[in-house]
Amino acid sequence: MGVKTPEQIEKIRKACRICKKILIETVNFVREGITTFDVARFAENLMEKEKVKSAFLGYRGYPGVICISINEEVVHGIPSKTRYIQVQDIVSVDVGVVKDGYIGDCAMTCHVGEIGEEKVRLIDVTKNALIAGISKVREGCRTGDIGWEIQSLVEKNGFSVVRDFAGHGVGKYLHEEPDVPNFGKPGKGFELKENMVIAIEPMVNMGSSELKILSDGWTVVTADGLPSAHFEDTVLVTRDGYEILTTNN
Ligand code: MF3
Ligand code: CO
Repeated sequence: MGVKTPEQIEKIRKACRICKKILIETVNFVREGITTFDVARFAENLMEKEKVKSAFLGYRGYPGVICISINEEVVHGIPSKTRYIQVQDIVSVDVGVVKDGYIGDCAMTCHVGEIGEEKVRLIDVTKNALIAGISKVREGCRTGDIGWEIQSLVEKNGFSVVRDFAGHGVGKYLHEEPDVPNFGKPGKGFELKENMVIAIEPMVNMGSSELKILSDGWTVVTADGLPSAHFEDTVLVTRDGYEILTTNN
Protein backbone atom coordinates (compact mmCIF):
# COMPACT_ATOMS: atom_id res chain seq x y z
CA MET A 1 0.00 0.00 0.00
CA GLY A 2 1.09 3.55 -0.61
CA VAL A 3 3.60 3.13 -3.43
CA LYS A 4 1.88 2.95 -6.82
CA THR A 5 2.89 1.03 -9.95
CA PRO A 6 3.53 2.90 -13.23
CA GLU A 7 0.21 1.56 -14.56
CA GLN A 8 -1.67 2.85 -11.52
CA ILE A 9 0.08 6.21 -11.74
CA GLU A 10 -0.93 6.57 -15.38
CA LYS A 11 -4.57 5.96 -14.41
CA ILE A 12 -4.41 8.41 -11.53
CA ARG A 13 -2.77 10.95 -13.86
CA LYS A 14 -5.66 10.64 -16.33
CA ALA A 15 -8.25 11.01 -13.56
CA CYS A 16 -6.42 14.03 -12.15
CA ARG A 17 -6.16 15.87 -15.47
CA ILE A 18 -9.88 15.49 -16.10
CA CYS A 19 -10.57 16.50 -12.50
CA LYS A 20 -8.62 19.77 -12.85
CA LYS A 21 -10.24 20.56 -16.18
CA ILE A 22 -13.71 20.10 -14.65
CA LEU A 23 -12.72 22.15 -11.58
CA ILE A 24 -11.49 25.08 -13.65
CA GLU A 25 -14.54 25.11 -15.92
CA THR A 26 -16.81 24.85 -12.87
CA VAL A 27 -15.05 27.69 -11.05
CA ASN A 28 -15.41 29.81 -14.20
CA PHE A 29 -19.15 29.08 -14.14
CA VAL A 30 -19.55 30.41 -10.58
CA ARG A 31 -21.40 33.74 -10.62
CA GLU A 32 -23.86 35.94 -8.78
CA GLY A 33 -27.51 34.89 -8.75
CA ILE A 34 -27.21 31.15 -9.35
CA THR A 35 -27.54 28.46 -6.70
CA THR A 36 -24.83 26.12 -5.51
CA PHE A 37 -26.97 23.33 -6.96
CA ASP A 38 -26.70 24.99 -10.40
CA VAL A 39 -22.93 24.86 -10.03
CA ALA A 40 -23.05 21.18 -9.07
CA ARG A 41 -25.32 20.37 -12.01
CA PHE A 42 -22.87 22.12 -14.32
CA ALA A 43 -20.01 20.01 -12.90
CA GLU A 44 -22.10 16.86 -13.18
CA ASN A 45 -22.69 17.53 -16.89
CA LEU A 46 -18.96 17.90 -17.42
CA MET A 47 -18.39 14.60 -15.56
CA GLU A 48 -20.86 12.88 -17.89
CA LYS A 49 -19.17 14.40 -20.93
CA GLU A 50 -15.76 13.25 -19.70
CA LYS A 51 -17.14 9.80 -18.77
CA VAL A 52 -16.04 10.06 -15.14
CA LYS A 53 -17.99 9.65 -11.91
CA SER A 54 -18.03 11.82 -8.83
CA ALA A 55 -15.70 10.45 -6.16
CA PHE A 56 -17.69 12.27 -3.47
CA LEU A 57 -21.31 11.24 -4.18
CA GLY A 58 -22.17 8.49 -1.71
CA TYR A 59 -18.79 8.63 0.00
CA ARG A 60 -19.73 7.91 3.62
CA GLY A 61 -23.21 8.99 2.54
CA TYR A 62 -22.19 12.41 1.17
CA PRO A 63 -25.18 13.61 -0.89
CA GLY A 64 -23.51 15.92 -3.49
CA VAL A 65 -21.48 15.46 -6.69
CA ILE A 66 -19.05 18.21 -5.62
CA CYS A 67 -18.48 20.26 -2.48
CA ILE A 68 -19.16 23.99 -2.60
CA SER A 69 -18.38 26.03 0.48
CA ILE A 70 -19.09 29.76 0.76
CA ASN A 71 -17.45 32.33 3.08
CA GLU A 72 -17.37 30.91 6.66
CA GLU A 73 -18.00 27.42 5.25
CA VAL A 74 -14.62 25.69 5.28
CA VAL A 75 -15.23 22.46 3.34
CA HIS A 76 -17.91 19.87 2.51
CA GLY A 77 -20.68 22.36 1.71
CA ILE A 78 -23.56 20.45 0.10
CA PRO A 79 -24.96 21.87 -3.16
CA SER A 80 -28.34 23.44 -2.40
CA LYS A 81 -31.24 24.65 -4.55
CA THR A 82 -31.91 27.46 -2.09
CA ARG A 83 -28.38 28.77 -1.59
CA TYR A 84 -27.82 31.68 -3.98
CA ILE A 85 -24.33 32.93 -4.72
CA GLN A 86 -23.96 36.64 -4.05
CA VAL A 87 -21.53 39.43 -4.78
CA GLN A 88 -18.68 39.51 -2.22
CA ASP A 89 -18.85 35.75 -1.65
CA ILE A 90 -15.72 33.67 -1.64
CA VAL A 91 -16.58 30.27 -3.06
CA SER A 92 -14.54 27.09 -2.58
CA VAL A 93 -15.21 24.36 -5.12
CA ASP A 94 -13.89 20.85 -4.47
CA VAL A 95 -14.04 18.24 -7.23
CA GLY A 96 -13.17 14.55 -6.99
CA VAL A 97 -13.59 12.11 -9.89
CA VAL A 98 -13.17 8.40 -10.51
CA LYS A 99 -11.87 7.30 -13.91
CA ASP A 100 -11.08 3.67 -14.65
CA GLY A 101 -11.12 2.87 -10.93
CA TYR A 102 -8.73 5.64 -9.85
CA ILE A 103 -9.26 9.00 -8.20
CA GLY A 104 -8.32 12.62 -8.84
CA ASP A 105 -9.03 15.28 -6.17
CA CYS A 106 -8.56 19.06 -6.33
CA ALA A 107 -10.09 22.30 -5.06
CA MET A 108 -9.89 26.05 -5.59
CA THR A 109 -11.40 29.15 -4.02
CA CYS A 110 -12.70 31.95 -6.21
CA HIS A 111 -14.47 35.22 -5.50
CA VAL A 112 -17.60 36.88 -6.85
CA GLY A 113 -17.20 40.58 -7.59
CA GLU A 114 -15.34 42.91 -5.25
CA ILE A 115 -14.45 41.19 -1.97
CA GLY A 116 -12.05 43.61 -0.31
CA GLU A 117 -8.35 43.43 0.48
CA GLU A 118 -8.40 41.04 3.43
CA LYS A 119 -10.38 38.32 1.67
CA VAL A 120 -8.17 38.68 -1.41
CA ARG A 121 -5.18 38.16 0.88
CA LEU A 122 -6.81 35.11 2.47
CA ILE A 123 -7.26 33.47 -0.94
CA ASP A 124 -3.72 34.39 -2.07
CA VAL A 125 -2.11 33.10 1.13
CA THR A 126 -4.04 29.80 0.90
CA LYS A 127 -3.00 29.31 -2.72
CA ASN A 128 0.62 30.14 -1.84
CA ALA A 129 0.46 27.76 1.13
CA LEU A 130 -0.47 24.95 -1.25
CA ILE A 131 2.43 25.88 -3.55
CA ALA A 132 4.81 26.07 -0.57
CA GLY A 133 3.66 22.67 0.73
CA ILE A 134 4.06 21.07 -2.70
CA SER A 135 7.56 22.53 -3.03
CA LYS A 136 8.78 20.34 -0.14
CA VAL A 137 7.62 17.09 -1.73
CA ARG A 138 10.29 14.58 -2.77
CA GLU A 139 11.27 11.03 -1.88
CA GLY A 140 12.38 10.92 1.75
CA CYS A 141 10.56 14.05 2.86
CA ARG A 142 8.12 13.78 5.73
CA THR A 143 4.55 14.95 6.04
CA GLY A 144 5.74 17.24 8.87
CA ASP A 145 8.01 19.06 6.37
CA ILE A 146 4.98 19.82 4.22
CA GLY A 147 2.79 20.73 7.18
CA TRP A 148 5.39 23.05 8.65
CA GLU A 149 5.84 24.87 5.36
CA ILE A 150 2.09 25.44 5.08
CA GLN A 151 1.55 26.38 8.73
CA SER A 152 4.46 28.81 8.96
CA LEU A 153 3.48 30.70 5.82
CA VAL A 154 -0.14 30.94 6.96
CA GLU A 155 0.72 32.07 10.50
CA LYS A 156 3.28 34.60 9.27
CA ASN A 157 0.36 36.17 7.43
CA GLY A 158 -1.81 36.32 10.55
CA PHE A 159 -4.24 33.54 9.57
CA SER A 160 -4.73 30.04 11.00
CA VAL A 161 -4.63 26.55 9.50
CA VAL A 162 -7.44 24.08 9.99
CA ARG A 163 -6.19 21.15 12.08
CA ASP A 164 -9.25 18.89 12.15
CA PHE A 165 -9.04 17.99 8.45
CA ALA A 166 -5.97 17.05 6.44
CA GLY A 167 -4.68 16.06 3.03
CA HIS A 168 -4.41 12.36 2.28
CA GLY A 169 -3.08 9.61 0.05
CA VAL A 170 -4.97 9.13 -3.23
CA GLY A 171 -5.38 6.02 -5.41
CA LYS A 172 -8.20 3.52 -5.78
CA TYR A 173 -9.73 5.26 -2.78
CA LEU A 174 -10.34 8.94 -2.07
CA HIS A 175 -8.69 8.81 1.33
CA GLU A 176 -5.66 6.56 1.66
CA GLU A 177 -2.61 6.56 3.89
CA PRO A 178 -0.89 8.79 4.85
CA ASP A 179 -2.66 11.75 6.44
CA VAL A 180 -1.07 14.98 5.23
CA PRO A 181 -1.78 17.61 7.93
CA ASN A 182 -1.51 21.32 7.24
CA PHE A 183 0.69 21.77 10.30
CA GLY A 184 3.64 19.89 11.73
CA LYS A 185 7.32 19.89 12.50
CA PRO A 186 10.18 19.46 10.02
CA GLY A 187 11.59 15.92 10.09
CA LYS A 188 8.47 14.51 11.78
CA GLY A 189 5.54 12.53 10.45
CA PHE A 190 5.18 9.93 7.71
CA GLU A 191 8.13 9.50 5.33
CA LEU A 192 7.15 9.73 1.66
CA LYS A 193 8.46 7.26 -0.91
CA GLU A 194 8.88 7.58 -4.66
CA ASN A 195 5.60 6.86 -6.51
CA MET A 196 3.29 7.64 -3.64
CA VAL A 197 0.40 9.95 -4.53
CA ILE A 198 -0.93 12.49 -2.05
CA ALA A 199 -3.48 15.28 -2.02
CA ILE A 200 -2.28 18.41 -0.24
CA GLU A 201 -5.12 20.69 0.79
CA PRO A 202 -4.58 23.69 3.04
CA MET A 203 -7.77 25.08 4.58
CA VAL A 204 -7.02 28.52 5.96
CA ASN A 205 -9.19 30.56 8.33
CA MET A 206 -9.05 34.34 8.59
CA GLY A 207 -9.71 34.08 12.34
CA SER A 208 -9.46 31.16 14.74
CA SER A 209 -8.92 27.56 13.60
CA GLU A 210 -11.90 26.39 15.65
CA LEU A 211 -14.67 24.70 13.65
CA LYS A 212 -18.28 23.61 13.91
CA ILE A 213 -20.30 21.17 11.83
CA LEU A 214 -23.78 22.23 10.70
CA SER A 215 -26.84 20.11 11.45
CA ASP A 216 -26.73 18.67 7.90
CA GLY A 217 -23.88 16.56 9.28
CA TRP A 218 -21.41 17.70 6.60
CA THR A 219 -20.89 21.43 6.24
CA VAL A 220 -17.80 22.50 8.18
CA VAL A 221 -17.90 26.17 9.25
CA THR A 222 -15.59 28.41 11.25
CA ALA A 223 -16.71 28.79 14.87
CA ASP A 224 -16.15 32.57 14.74
CA GLY A 225 -18.02 33.02 11.44
CA LEU A 226 -14.99 34.51 9.69
CA PRO A 227 -14.19 33.38 6.14
CA SER A 228 -12.07 30.40 5.13
CA ALA A 229 -10.33 29.40 1.88
CA HIS A 230 -9.25 26.03 0.45
CA PHE A 231 -6.92 24.90 -2.34
CA GLU A 232 -6.01 21.31 -3.18
CA ASP A 233 -3.88 19.45 -5.69
CA THR A 234 -3.04 15.77 -6.11
CA VAL A 235 0.72 15.27 -6.38
CA LEU A 236 3.04 12.39 -7.33
CA VAL A 237 6.18 11.94 -5.20
CA THR A 238 9.30 11.51 -7.37
CA ARG A 239 12.94 10.77 -6.55
CA ASP A 240 13.98 14.40 -6.77
CA GLY A 241 10.71 16.26 -6.33
CA TYR A 242 7.12 16.01 -7.46
CA GLU A 243 4.70 16.08 -10.35
CA ILE A 244 1.44 17.95 -9.90
CA LEU A 245 -1.08 15.47 -11.34
CA THR A 246 -4.10 17.78 -11.17
CA THR A 247 -2.92 20.01 -13.98
CA ASN A 248 -4.54 20.99 -17.22
CA ASN A 249 -1.37 21.75 -19.17
N1 MF3 B 1 -11.51 16.94 -1.17
C1 MF3 B 1 -12.25 16.58 0.01
C2 MF3 B 1 -11.45 15.58 0.78
O1 MF3 B 1 -10.51 15.09 0.26
C3 MF3 B 1 -13.61 16.17 -0.34
C4 MF3 B 1 -14.24 15.06 0.41
S1 MF3 B 1 -15.91 15.30 0.33
C5 MF3 B 1 -16.64 13.87 0.67
O2 MF3 B 1 -11.68 15.33 1.92
F1 MF3 B 1 -17.85 14.03 0.61
F2 MF3 B 1 -16.30 13.00 -0.24
F3 MF3 B 1 -16.25 13.43 1.86
CO1 CO C 1 -8.98 15.81 -0.67
